[in-house]
Amino acid sequence: MKILGFESSCDETSAAVLEFDDNGKITVLSNIVASQIDIHARFGGVVPEIASRAHTEAISKITYEALETANAAIGDIDAVAVTASPGLIGALLVGVNFAKSLAYANKKPLIAVNHIKGHIAANYIDHPELKPPFLALVASGGHTSLIKADTYRDMTTIGATRDDALGEAFDKVARVLGMPYPGGAAMDKLAYEGKPNIKFPSAAIKDDTLDFSFSGIKTAVLNHINSCSQKGGELPRADIAASFVEAAVSSVVIKMNEALDKYPDVHRVVLAGGVAANSHLRAALENLCKNRGVQLYMPALKYCGDNAAMIASAAYFEYKAGAFSDVSLNASAVAEV
Ligand code: KG4
Ligand code: ZN
Repeated sequence: MKILGFESSCDETSAAVLEFDDNGKITVLSNIVASQIDIHARFGGVVPEIASRAHTEAISKITYEALETANAAIGDIDAVAVTASPGLIGALLVGVNFAKSLAYANKKPLIAVNHIKGHIAANYIDHPELKPPFLALVASGGHTSLIKADTYRDMTTIGATRDDALGEAFDKVARVLGMPYPGGAAMDKLAYEGKPNIKFPSAAIKDDTLDFSFSGIKTAVLNHINSCSQKGGELPRADIAASFVEAAVSSVVIKMNEALDKYPDVHRVVLAGGVAANSHLRAALENLCKNRGVQLYMPALKYCGDNAAMIASAAYFEYKAGAFSDVSLNASAVAEV
């Protein structure tokens, strides 16, 4: 069977066609991503109204491209899937209304997908052997959550950030270090050129929750930069990047370790979201999981950031459960799994 998926929750317009065999093995026939990064970069972050307009301009074209690349016609598609929550409401509405119209006009089942579940489902593309239960860290520009997946569809948030998302913290620190938005990937690289010799506070909240707070690290970095510039001399950009990465990554490792203590029957860990592309985070979680004897799953780099392949991947389980939507489907900004 084939699912046509759409993603438009933030600043990527994406359409993908995925084919599933009887065992759920996935072939990505197409995954077209039109990024708006260049449009938003000059504002230092995503401007919601501009994002919605850019999605509207791009979505028809990328749909044709996704079908053409997959060598499929709309008649070959078994279901249309779309991110319906969470995200920027105007941006989500573009995808939801487009998918709704396409499904209605072509008499195809419509499937609403949660973006966070989509990020997690990116892992099934290259790891069809991955099965729940597992613990997932979803870290992106908008979300940082620890999630316990009991089945492919039933998930509970067991921890979350109380302020900034991890990707947001990366982007804000990158910005003060003079890198263009979004600076997460550039920080990843710069950290290799420095030493983690500055002590920034942990984002792992010291209580019995699995929650994070990344705003403290960001403020500490800003204070450090201010005190460096007061003293004069060159700013140790690479050391700041290395020290920030060390503080952020070790905070995640602390809480993932606590989560594994809290749920000793779970032996699989999943990494997902844009920040899943971070090489330091990948290496640190690999190390943790090796030491704890649990299996770690990570998406291929091309499926870490927002894309429609992950949405179609999550939709497969909704399809199997018969969880379809109708034309009354609405978008929601609320971040629940
Ligand atoms: O999942 P995503 O594409 O969009 C959201 O749902 O937010 O994530 C984008 C975020 C941005 O904050 C970006 O800087 C961050 O992921 N990111 C990274 C890396 N690659 C992307 N952060 C750290 N290291 C990276 N290599
Ligand atoms: Zn995302």
